[in-house]
Amino acid sequence: MTNSPKPVYPVIWHNDAASLIDQTRLPNEYSFVEISRSEDMARAIKTMIVRGAPAIGVAAAYGMYLGAREIETSNRDEFLQQLEKVAQLLRSTRPTAVNLFWAINRMMRTAYESIGTVAEIRQTLLQTAQALNAEDLQTCQAIGDRGLTALPSTPDKLTLLTHCNAGALATAGYGTALGVVRSAWREGRLEKVFADETRPRLQGAKLTAWECVQEGIPVTLITDNMAAHCMQQGLIHAVVVGADRIAANGDTANKIGTYSLAIVAKAHQVPFFVAAPLSTIDFELSDGSQIPIEERNPEEIYQVGETILTPTGVEFYNPAFDVTPAELITGIITENGVFAPGELAKSQKIVS
Ligand code: MRU
Repeated sequence: MTNSPKPVYPVIWHNDAASLIDQTRLPNEYSFVEISRSEDMARAIKTMIVRGAPAIGVAAAYGMYLGAREIETSNRDEFLQQLEKVAQLLRSTRPTAVNLFWAINRMMRTAYESIGTVAEIRQTLLQTAQALNAEDLQTCQAIGDRGLTALPSTPDKLTLLTHCNAGALATAGYGTALGVVRSAWREGRLEKVFADETRPRLQGAKLTAWECVQEGIPVTLITDNMAAHCMQQGLIHAVVVGADRIAANGDTANKIGTYSLAIVAKAHQVPFFVAAPLSTIDFELSDGSQIPIEERNPEEIYQVGETILTPTGVEFYNPAFDVTPAELITGIITENGVFAPGELAKSQKIVS
């Protein structure tokens, strides 16, 4: 086993198309889907071929360029009007992760602010999507390294617990919560990572475990209901999770199950960190009650592969995210430093 990273990039632009790792097929199959139309990009986001807050932002940015390429007018106003429709389609894919809206808005702003012909605006849009992709990668590396300063100083080698997948697959690469894990591993500060399997879609079991194995990071998989027991046994030194949207007061939406994990961590005095880029903070929302929570198909609960788990006549409720109140969060690790949830407003001036 070596410490040398094997980079994973879920969204790559090449041959004039976006190439996405098909995350619905991992870990059994490592394959790519080529996307060259905006409609297909919207479908890929909705069906979670690409998922994770920053990664869907990057994918949507390329989707905006693909849409711009499909618009057959050289009239600037008409072009912008039709581009708004592409933006609308991409915005309708998933409601919770604010990075999606942030990226689309940035692309729209770029189009409005670009002077020149429609052909030139299209070119600027591609450059902006590529820049956003590259920036997210750098941002995640910075988050990982900043996170090191927030982790407990003892013991020398830590055992961290994470939920869902906030790794390279969920970003442009490297990851947020898993970025902290990666940096800790690189610096010799990590004993191992515990990964929650993360029902119902099992992103922890399928994706986080896969990423760790690729890189030789020791990973122990547990089911979601084992976290309290592990903490009671003193097995966990800190929890690090990602975020889909953070309200101005620090309340944080992340994968369903994050909230109960935070309660359990508080009960056992285990520090609980959220790792996210500044683009995940939504200063327009004063608190977490305003964050829209995606509800997904009940099939995700009652069916595993071809197997139906439940009797007929049962009702289902499948919220994909929950909101962890700020008071349960020890610190929010961003690319610009670690903030107490109540201090997030201080970072507002540096959010672009
Ligand atoms: O439904 P998903 O798989 O898109 O949910 C992903 C998460 O909840 C991640 O923890 C979050 O997006 C942060 S990714 C760096």
